[in-house]
Amino acid sequence: MIGRGISLKVVFLGDTAVGKSCLAVRFVRNEFFEFQEPTIGAAFLGKTINANDKRYKFEIWDTAGQERYRSLAPMYYRGAKAAVIVYDITDEDTFKGAKTWVSEIKKKSNNCLILLVGNKVDLTNNRKVDIHMVKEYVESNNLIYMESSAKTGLNVDKIFTTIAENIPEDNEQNEHEPINEIVNVNNREERARYTQYNCC
Ligand code: GTP
Ligand code: MG
Repeated sequence: MIGRGISLKVVFLGDTAVGKSCLAVRFVRNEFFEFQEPTIGAAFLGKTINANDKRYKFEIWDTAGQERYRSLAPMYYRGAKAAVIVYDITDEDTFKGAKTWVSEIKKKSNNCLILLVGNKVDLTNNRKVDIHMVKEYVESNNLIYMESSAKTGLNVDKIFTTIAENIPEDNEQNEHEPINEIVNVNNREERARYTQYNCC
């Protein structure tokens, strides 16, 4: 039986082109685009799912990985219950970028659950980031690690069910309306509707 709903603010962080937006869009709409535009500023997406006999409302802030937007990130990760830090398994630099995000979240966001996600696992023949090194890093930093493909959909839902399973239960809130939508945060009215409740 589904009881009260649980709202979970989740932030996606990571270098540009690692597939953050594709993962979010795959989760919310089950779609994938080969030519996804780089995100400008950030995007908000919402989806409600039922798991473990509970209803979870995910409020997802998909940040822009381009360097010029980096200073905006704290606005989006502040208050997040979980940070999904994404790198591209075919690009070593993006793993370095992910490590920087892990350090920043650990320093600035005390109670934030961190998931490290190696995306584009459909390109496993072109893997450039050594998996043993990643596993050592994950163990020594006490992180949850998963590999995904926004292209095939592999493990995309699992990212969110894993978050649901690992968030302490003190986040339960009153019953809420389910959501399943993508908001253009570059549109002032749409942004205002959400930032009023969710942001900073
Ligand atoms: P920024 O918004 O600039 O931070 O980038 P992003 O991390 O949101 O990357 P985005 O989702 O825009 O994806 C970048 C490119 O990678 C797109 O052209 C996608 O088609 C491709 N891509 C994303 N996920 C996958 C994946 O799992 N497999 C493959 N093969 N390509 C992917
Ligand atoms: Mg993006």
